[in-house]
Amino acid sequence: MKGNSADVKAIKGAVESKDYATVETKAKDIMGTADKIPSLFPKGSDKGKTKATAAIWEKSDEFAKQAKNLSKASGELAAAAKSKDDTAVAAKFKAVGEVCSSCHKEFRADKYSE
Ligand code: HEC
Repeated sequence: MKGNSADVKAIKGAVESKDYATVETKAKDIMGTADKIPSLFPKGSDKGKTKATAAIWEKSDEFAKQAKNLSKASGELAAAAKSKDDTAVAAKFKAVGEVCSSCHKEFRADKYSE
């Protein structure tokens, strides 16, 4: 997840400077992480200091769907960057951010558990 955040920051800078090669590489990084998200939260990993909520396991189908949405959105961003399409890059970058926050809203607690 920290990697995701670094990738998003790098993409933001690259979108602004129209460095589409970087946008494409970083979007593919996110895509690779997205596919692994569900396996990063095995059942019972809500122990210790975490913001993971029980909903991850109660609604594991929905959680996996959000991870898939991220994979899809970042794949579309990579494709838009590849074709150097300004409008599509801006729209797809926004879509990626929306998937991040929609999953966090549903599955990430505001505070770390004690
Ligand atoms: C499938 C759901 C899901 C998606 C999609 C998702 N996240 Fe997360 N994210 C989580 C959960 C759950 C946590 C809390 C993890 C914990 O505390 O153990 C988290 C935590 C984080 C954190 C806090 C630091 C950390 O390592 O815990 C950052 C930063 C973060 N996510 C960034 C992102 C970014 C950027 C994206 C989009 C590119 C993204 N996330 C997409 C579920 C998701």
